[in-house]
Amino acid sequence: MDFNEVNRRRRSIRAFSGRPVAPAALRRILAAALESPSWSNTQPYRVAVAEGEVLEQLRGELQKKFWHVNVLQRAPWWRRLYAWLFDGEMPDGDFRPLLKYPAELQRRRSQTGLGLYRALGIARSDYEARDRQMARNFCFFDAPLALFVFAHRGLGVYSALDAGIFLQTLMLAAADEGLGSCAQGALAMWRSPLEKHFTVPADYQLLCGLSLGYAAEQAVNQYRPQRCSVEEILLQPAAETPLQAADIS
Ligand SMILES: Cc1cc2nc3c(=O)[nH]c(=O)nc-3n(C[C@H](O)[C@H](O)[C@H](O)COP(=O)(O)O)c2cc1C
Repeated sequence: MDFNEVNRRRRSIRAFSGRPVAPAALRRILAAALESPSWSNTQPYRVAVAEGEVLEQLRGELQKKFWHVNVLQRAPWWRRLYAWLFDGEMPDGDFRPLLKYPAELQRRRSQTGLGLYRALGIARSDYEARDRQMARNFCFFDAPLALFVFAHRGLGVYSALDAGIFLQTLMLAAADEGLGSCAQGALAMWRSPLEKHFTVPADYQLLCGLSLGYAAEQAVNQYRPQRCSVEEILLQPAAETPLQAADIS
């Protein structure tokens, strides 16, 4: 496939068919992702691949945690405090979940969310259906594979940058194989369930999850959120000040 075709084909898939992914295809995708550039070629990432029984167990564990926290959001403060202290179900990811977005970014986030709900036939005011859709994150949208990307804490933001590049190469390689994927920050909310099933080095922080498999023929997979125009992301040249003009002459 030509690059632009692969790049366009890669879109977030939020409904997967039951078709399994051949181990050789998964290996090719991971090998392709390892061609990514990284800071001094440090390749500061690790990947956990969940499939079969481990995937089923994670589905159960993560959904249970999600619904527990979801119900707590409407509970009195003392119940929430008790939960933070004693329940053992509260988010224990390496990074705090984002609760508040800068206004400029929130606008795009809202537009994308609304478009997604429209594609799913969910009314804006139907909070129960919205919660159920959110919960679908934690069953990996029925994908046969879930990947979890960890980045080394030692490079700070640069490991996250490298892991992001790695993730994009991986998603493009998946698209080239005819597979669908969805990067999911939601899957980084809990670290403890992963530690139950994988040996995770202490220096590696859980950054993002990814559902992987063959796309199901469902309307949600046709949703194409709008992008900024090139002009919108280009910075304008600084206005020339009288001082600068004097400096030059
Ligand atoms: C780092 C990252 C985290 C994301 N987290 C989620 C998520 O938790 N759930 C979800 O449904 N989509 C998630 N997405 C998908 C974005 O919503 C999607 O990439 C964006 O709306 C653009 O749409 P497209 O991927 O179809 O081009 C995530 C994407 C990225 C890159």
